[in-house]
Amino acid sequence: MRTEKDKYIPALSYDWLTAFYDPVVRWTTREKTFKHRLLQQANIQPAHRVLDLGCGTATLTIAIKQAVPKATVEGLDGDAKILAIARDKARQAGVEIHFDEGLSYQLPYTDTVFDRVVSSLFFHHLTTENKLQTLREVRRVLKAGGELHIADWGKPHSSIMRAASFPVRLLDGATTADSFDGLLPRYLQEAGFVDVRTGEHYATMFGTLWLYQAQQPE
Ligand SMILES: C[S@@+](CC[C@H](N)C(=O)[O-])C[C@H]1O[C@@H](n2cnc3c(N)ncnc32)[C@H](O)[C@@H]1O
Repeated sequence: MRTEKDKYIPALSYDWLTAFYDPVVRWTTREKTFKHRLLQQANIQPAHRVLDLGCGTATLTIAIKQAVPKATVEGLDGDAKILAIARDKARQAGVEIHFDEGLSYQLPYTDTVFDRVVSSLFFHHLTTENKLQTLREVRRVLKAGGELHIADWGKPHSSIMRAASFPVRLLDGATTADSFDGLLPRYLQEAGFVDVRTGEHYATMFGTLWLYQAQQPE
């Protein structure tokens, strides 16, 4: 029997839609703008080891490596099919990125190894239980003083954005409810992160995208 913990939602909710992921995201989410801003917010340095959690087709992962070529950049995703697209894109871009297949709530890394964990359009895929377990895992793999930087759907900032978010709520199901209720900052605090901040937000065709950041205590 599948449990709440087993719930896995592919990039566009259905496996057969994965091939269309990049154009859909590019045209509907102001992707260039918010991923560029997320990258700036993360302030990645050449000596950093960085994990892109739920990296999908690796658009952000590749952008990080291109912006800071000396950083060690890795991507993790639970979907082998999307990782094949990611590896192909990285090869075409001529950048060296290590990709792992794995689940965010059981990260295949030893403790305190990353300076930054970044994540975009990912946390709303997780049940509340898995969001909390994933945040505990991110804390486990981050070095002291390391940072988590997130871009994801959050509380709609207008009634138009509330209506716009309906298709994502419908496609991704109940896991999105706490994201759209704006609960992620509270979960970050509950997981023991400090200096939890909510950053800029963006109106998109599918609702309000928010940037968040949080720090592993020193
Ligand atoms: C909407 S896509 C976002 C991809 C990419 N970060 C981006 O911004 O375009 C969400 C990704 O999370 C992955 N995913 C969902 N649940 C996961 C889990 N528990 N662990 C790892 N990856 C997961 C999916 O396979 C999918 O590639």
